[in-house]
Amino acid sequence: MKIKNICCIGAGYVGGPTMAVIADKCPDIQIHVVDFNKERINKWNDVDVNNLPIFEPGLAEIVERCRGKNLHFSTGINERIRKSDMVFISVNTPTKKYGLGAGKASDLKWVEACARQVANNATGHTIVVEKSTLPVRTAEVIKSILDATKKDSERSEIKTFDVLSNPEFLAEGTAINDLLYPDRVLIGGENQLSINALSDIYAKWVTKEKILQTNIWSSELAKLTANAFLAQRISSINSIGALCEATGADVREVSRAIGADSRIGSKFLDAGPGFGGSCFKKDILNLVYLSEYFGLYEVAKFWESVVTLNNWHQKRISKLITNKLFGTISGKKIIILGFAFKGNTNDTRESAAILICKDLLNEGAFLFIHDPKVSKEQIINDLGSKPYSENKKQLNSFDVKGNWEFIHDIDESFFEADAIVILTEWEEYKNINWDLAEKRMRKPAWIFDSRSLIDPEDIKKNDFNFWRIGDGS
Ligand code: NAD
Ligand code: UDX
Repeated sequence: MKIKNICCIGAGYVGGPTMAVIADKCPDIQIHVVDFNKERINKWNDVDVNNLPIFEPGLAEIVERCRGKNLHFSTGINERIRKSDMVFISVNTPTKKYGLGAGKASDLKWVEACARQVANNATGHTIVVEKSTLPVRTAEVIKSILDATKKDSERSEIKTFDVLSNPEFLAEGTAINDLLYPDRVLIGGENQLSINALSDIYAKWVTKEKILQTNIWSSELAKLTANAFLAQRISSINSIGALCEATGADVREVSRAIGADSRIGSKFLDAGPGFGGSCFKKDILNLVYLSEYFGLYEVAKFWESVVTLNNWHQKRISKLITNKLFGTISGKKIIILGFAFKGNTNDTRESAAILICKDLLNEGAFLFIHDPKVSKEQIINDLGSKPYSENKKQLNSFDVKGNWEFIHDIDESFFEADAIVILTEWEEYKNINWDLAEKRMRKPAWIFDSRSLIDPEDIKKNDFNFWRIGDGS
């Protein structure tokens, strides 16, 4: 079975970069990334690759190389399904907002819509690949939709399907590197020929030992488990960070000490403002839902505590900022550095910055928000309010809730600021002009570093009060 035409439904943070890398490595395969979001597709087709809808280091270069040759972006979903021998489903699977399992279970309506669209439009034999992160046994749902259409007696043509699970492990900000040099590629399925067909694609750049083949349910569950384990490490280290602050220990030293144990390992032990991103919370909640569904309540509680700790931790930071600024921040000017959920991405989904900024605004602060890649429009969307200059609200009135402004020039924003809060680990924040900041800020001036980004030596000579995550020393 040799794959010549691929269609990927979903031109998002996973579909776009994944297909770009496959296109780059497999010039003999025609790849069409389709989406019903026309605006997003237009951006993928923008002549200027700096305007792609998502920012990922290295992505623009690959798109520039392959687009129009064997990598295409369009809204022609049905036509592309018809012409493909492999269809990836890479659509969003957020937490359900209402109905059965609301707040925990994954909303599979977009996945189901894709399955129906594939069932209706596919021709001949089609391998359907689950790329989205899905609850265990979703392949069964997809298969039954596909099979139901196959049996449709009105249709004379014979169509056959196979479903594979091929979850994606890339992390945003390092997506291209993760795709080029994956720790492993996971393929779950029943039909060895289909598994081989997908393995052959990855084998163009991934060694055979790293392409793991499992049964389909293990593959689906392994994805949720990997995210749960990773998030659990962050909640663990953040909980210890709070203890460090209370006891005089330093979380960086504790991380280094425990990470040196090869059984624990040194990665993913950075204390921060709490994990964000579109995956961790939703996937753990999904695991909690599944465990409850199967009557495993202790298992559910165990994993739910990872999310509970994360929520508490984010609140802890906003409270701490207020407390350090004499218990009131009403009308105080606070510079927020970083709004994305981590460095090197423009994604703000579940970013700790959203909750922390909302808390500070609720206390009446005036936030000056900077991020090198997140747009003002995105922040308006996330905070649910417009910036002060577009809102024309009155300042300096004590009953007014907080305000915010979007800033490009950090140096200009220093004037009369009371605090700087670092929430995202952008490299450029390592080069802040601290002498200028000290001169321009109102005293006592505070720096809150939730990412351990600043070297304390750099600001030693300046007159700042300094807090950094997990530092009780
Ligand atoms: P995304 O929201 O960025 O992209 C999904 C896209 O699918 C959207 O552009 C949407 O318009 C499109 N879409 C939805 N239903 C459609 C339909 N029926 N037809 C055509 N287009 C449709 O989401 P994402 O971040 O790329 O995540 C996709 C999946 O991958 C999720 O299940 C997620 O959990 C998983 N995942 C995400 C990451 C990550 O870092 N973002 C990593 C690994 C796995
Ligand atoms: C995650 C998984 O890492 C990836 O394998 C999966 O495919 C999708 O979900 P992502 O959410 O993109 O990737 O980024 P990740 O690097 O995992 O960071 C998630 C959150 O944890 C970020 O807010 C990050 O700042 C935080 N984090 C990460 C820490 O606070 N400390 C760490 O040591 C690592």
